[in-house]
Amino acid sequence: MAETPETRKPDFKNGFPIRDFGDCSLISGQADGEEVVLARRGDEFFAIASHCTHYGGPLADGLVVGDTVRCPWHHACFSLRNGVALRAPALDSVSCWRVEKVGDKIFVREKVSPPVPKRAADQPSSVVIVGGGGAGLAAADMLRREGYEGPVTIMSADDVPPVDRPNLSKDYLAGTAQEEWIPLRPADYYRDRKIDLLLHSRVSSLDTRKKRILLENGRTLEFGALLLATGADPVHLPIEGATDSQLHYLRTFADSKAIIRKATSAKHVVVVGAGFIGLEVAASMRARGILVDVVAPESQPLERIMGAEVGLFIRKLHEAHGVTFHLGRTVTRVHDRAVTLSSGTVVDADFLILGAGVRPSVTLAEQAGLAIDRGIEVNEYLETSVAGIFAVGDVARWPDPHTGERIRVEHWVVAERQGQVAAKNILGHREKFDAVPFFWSQHYDVRINYVGHAENWDAVDIDGSLDAPDCAVTYKKGGRTLALVTISRDLQSLKAEAAMETELRSQRPAGA
Ligand SMILES: Cc1cc2nc3c(=O)[nH]c(=O)nc-3n(C[C@H](O)[C@H](O)[C@H](O)COP(=O)(O)OP(=O)(O)OC[C@H]3O[C@@H](n4cnc5c(N)ncnc54)[C@H](O)[C@@H]3O)c2cc1C
Ligand code: FES
Repeated sequence: MAETPETRKPDFKNGFPIRDFGDCSLISGQADGEEVVLARRGDEFFAIASHCTHYGGPLADGLVVGDTVRCPWHHACFSLRNGVALRAPALDSVSCWRVEKVGDKIFVREKVSPPVPKRAADQPSSVVIVGGGGAGLAAADMLRREGYEGPVTIMSADDVPPVDRPNLSKDYLAGTAQEEWIPLRPADYYRDRKIDLLLHSRVSSLDTRKKRILLENGRTLEFGALLLATGADPVHLPIEGATDSQLHYLRTFADSKAIIRKATSAKHVVVVGAGFIGLEVAASMRARGILVDVVAPESQPLERIMGAEVGLFIRKLHEAHGVTFHLGRTVTRVHDRAVTLSSGTVVDADFLILGAGVRPSVTLAEQAGLAIDRGIEVNEYLETSVAGIFAVGDVARWPDPHTGERIRVEHWVVAERQGQVAAKNILGHREKFDAVPFFWSQHYDVRINYVGHAENWDAVDIDGSLDAPDCAVTYKKGGRTLALVTISRDLQSLKAEAAMETELRSQRPAGA
C-alpha cells in the first residue's frame, strides 16, 4: 500500500508510548481506520474522533480544559470522557474510544456508546419555543438530550426549518457552499425527536397569566414553559428613489437566495454599511466577480467594535480584493442605476444590499408586559421577569458576569449556548449562563475570532502583525483584559477564553 499522511499517523490500537507525548496534550493518530486524537490530562488519557462535528475543525489543534477539548475554529466543546458535544456550535457528539494503559503505553480499545438520556426529573406539561433560529433549535435539541419527554413545539415565522445563519453571508452567498449544508438539521431529525416544528407560524400575542400564545393564523396554544427566541430584524433604511426590488437585506435563507439570484446577472453592487455582515457580503460578491462599493458613515470599518487598527486592516484587506470604500458617506438618492452619495459622488449599481444593523424582536414580549431593556431582560438563569418564561439569543439582555454589565450580543455561539442553558433551566437545573461571549467573522481567507466583550476600552495591545496577518489584539480597561481578537492564532483565542472562565471562577465564593 502506498504511504499517505494517514498511514504514517500512529495506529493507537498498537499502543502509543506515553513518553512520546512530550509537552503535548493532544496527539493525532488513527484507530479502526478512523482519525483519532489521543488526549492527555495529567495521568489520564482519552481518545476521541479528530474532527469537530460543526465544520470539521481539527481537534488536535484545540485545547484541553479539564476533561474537555475545545475546537480551534469556533470554540465548540466536547467531553473527553464520552465525546458528547457539551457546548455549541457543535450539536453532535464525536466518537469516543476506551483507552487502556499497559506498561508505558496507551492502547485505544473499542468505541464507547454515547450516554443514553435519563428521564428529566422536572417535566413541564409542554415546552413551546417561539423562534426557529439557532437559539430555538439548540434549546429543543437540549430538551431531548436531557431526557424531556413531553411535547416540544417550535413556532417559527420562517418558511424553512432552522438554518446555519452565519453561512448565509459567507460560503453560501459566495457560491462555494452547497444548499444541503444550510439546514441545521435534516427533516427526519424533527420527526425522530418528536419536535413539532411549525413553519409560517408567527406568534402574535402572549397571555402570561393563562400561559397561552395566539398565532397570526388564529390558532392558540397553551404551554407549560415558554422560551422566547425571536432573534432580531434588520434595520430598514428609507432611501429616496429606490424601488423595493433594488434594496436587499440579509437575515433569512430566502434573503440570501434573492441576493444570489440578483448577483447572477449583476456587474456592480453597492453595500450600505461596513459592519460584519456588510463586509462579509462584500467579500462574497467579490468572489462572484462583481464590483463592490461599500458606503458607510463611519471613518473606519468596524472601528467601534474592534478599534481603528483592526478597522484599517479590514479595510486594506477588502481594498486588496478590489472593494471601493466611501467612508464618512451615506446614500442620499437612487435613480435607476445611479446611486448618489452625500459627497455628491455617483456610483453605478445593479442593486443595493443594506447592512445597517438589527433590532431585537421584542414586540411580543413587550406587549405581554415582560421587562424590556433594549432587548428582553433576563436573569442569570435566562428567565424573564415572568417565572417559567425564558428568553435567549439575539433578543435577550443578560447579566454577563465577566463584565458585570447587562449585555445583549448578536453572536451565533452565544445564541445557541443560551438556548442550551435555558433548556436545562426549564427542566429545573438552575444553571447560570456564564459563558465567555465568542464570535467569528470570515473575510476571504481570513477568519477573525473574538472572545470576551468590550464596549469601550482604554488600551489596545497588538501582539504580532496585522499585516501578516498573524496577531492577537487585546482590549483592556483599567489594566484588565476585556476582550481578545485573534487572526491565525486559534490556540491563543482558546486560552484567553479559558483564562476568562478561570478568572470568573476565582472571583466566586466557594459553592456559588
Ligand atoms: C447573514 C448573517 C451572518 C452572520 N454571521 C455570524 C458569524 O459569522 N458569527 C456570529 O457569531 N454570528 C453571526 N451572525 C449572527 C447570528 O446569526 C445570530 O446571532 C443568531 O442567528 C441569533 O440566533 P437567534 O436564534 O437568537 O435569532 P434568529 O436566528 O434571528 O432566529 C429568530 C427566529 O425567530 C422567528 N420569529 C421572530 N418573531 C417571531 C414570532 N413572533 N413568532 C414566531 N417566530 C418568530 C424568526 O422567524 C426566526 O426563525 C450572523 C447573522 C446573519 C444574519
Ligand atoms: S468547526 Fe469546530 S466549532 Fe466550528
